[in-house]
Amino acid sequence: MTDPVLLAELMTLVEPGKVLTDAASLETYGKDWTRHFPPAPSAIVFPKSIEQVQAIVQWANRHKVALVPSGGRTGLSAAAVAANGEVVVSFDYMNRILDFNAFDRTVVCQPGVITAQLQAFAEEQGLYYPVDFASSGSSQIGGNIGTNAGGIKVIRYGMTRNWVAGLKVVTGAGELLELNKDLIKNATGYDLRQLFIGAEGTLGFVVEATMRLDRAPKNLTAMVLGTPDFDSIMPVLHAFQGKLDLTAFEFFSDKGLAKILGRGDVPAPFETECPFYALLEFEATTEEVANDALALFEHCVEQGWVLDGVMSQSEQQLRNLWKLREYLSETISHWTPYKNDISVTVAKVPAFLRDIDSIVSTYYPDFEVVWYGHIGDGNLHLNILKPNDMSKDEFFARCAVVNKQVFETVEKYNGSISAEHGVGMTKRDYLAYSRSSAEIAYMKAVKAVFDPNGIMNPGKIFAPE
Ligand code: MLT
Ligand code: ZN
Repeated sequence: MTDPVLLAELMTLVEPGKVLTDAASLETYGKDWTRHFPPAPSAIVFPKSIEQVQAIVQWANRHKVALVPSGGRTGLSAAAVAANGEVVVSFDYMNRILDFNAFDRTVVCQPGVITAQLQAFAEEQGLYYPVDFASSGSSQIGGNIGTNAGGIKVIRYGMTRNWVAGLKVVTGAGELLELNKDLIKNATGYDLRQLFIGAEGTLGFVVEATMRLDRAPKNLTAMVLGTPDFDSIMPVLHAFQGKLDLTAFEFFSDKGLAKILGRGDVPAPFETECPFYALLEFEATTEEVANDALALFEHCVEQGWVLDGVMSQSEQQLRNLWKLREYLSETISHWTPYKNDISVTVAKVPAFLRDIDSIVSTYYPDFEVVWYGHIGDGNLHLNILKPNDMSKDEFFARCAVVNKQVFETVEKYNGSISAEHGVGMTKRDYLAYSRSSAEIAYMKAVKAVFDPNGIMNPGKIFAPE
């Protein structure tokens, strides 16, 4: 879409200066955190209201112009990448919190509200928005909804889906729908709100979201435990889950820890070097809970599942322990990692990880592999780091060869090729490893209903036909 007449018409739909076509903006707004596809949008448009979004979508339908939604661009599946001349619709100027209802504990957000902004707002009310991840300082609520973002507290609070009370969406056909009206109970047929959550902008745009808040957690306390092997992490999880309500149970490997310590700004948790580490968190509401946690730790040491450990004694120590896990994604991004975001049911995790690990070490004996993830959710992040002396294209081509084996293993274990990052473009060719052909046909039929002209984020989730 470089047609100047169409562009001029688009400019009339928004405020002056809110359509950009300069090279720097196209580069910035055309991509997310993935590095696989060079950005090539034709324009970026910044609506300021629902009416303007509707006008843009109606314009796109009239002229058959493809649209790509853009939030904080922190995505890891290229779902917000515009690589084919699309018009990017950025929600940067729809970034206000519109309303708060103390009785319902709900907040009405425009889609461009930053996750951390919602978290801070909740805190001001003495409440808590529990969906959290390392990119919370720049990811936007609209994008979180688009990917049904998960993160580090899913074991206790679930994914973004659990916290969406209601949505206003502009469908691909340009219609404004109000979905679920923020109700807790609503038994009136299909819940279309849930269809839009995780749809990666392929059905329409989220233009307003009512998010639920929770009570604020009390005295959060973290433990980092070093284990002799991966298998030992599972009985540790089982033991702690049997006694405590965990708010997180994460893991990372020694290679991940080495990268974090290499930064020089995060202290080591303890001196003993271990192949794997678990980070768990709970609310130490009473001394009894903290004592239970210590007793569990001792039990795990006696069983030989844990070699060493530490429990946070202050807010500062809690924050430092979390840095060991939360800084991983950003820290290894300097090695242009090939990322996988796979999941199975928790019980299958050890056997699954063993199988994947043996594929990876057979095919990539010379590559550095960093494992981390949300073990309590069965979600593993396999990151293969690019050697410094290899080109990006050669590296990604070599990684792609093994994708088939990795995803066949996911299929064998009845798992998911994407637990929380989404399908986007990076996994669209592998969707059939997680979804049956009948399911995919229904999904495409649903898309055709909401987006009859195929203008909403085409080429995402489904490979172009
Ligand atoms: C994480 O768990 O840190 C995020 O999903 C990001 C990543 O996988 O790198
Ligand atoms: Zn993750």
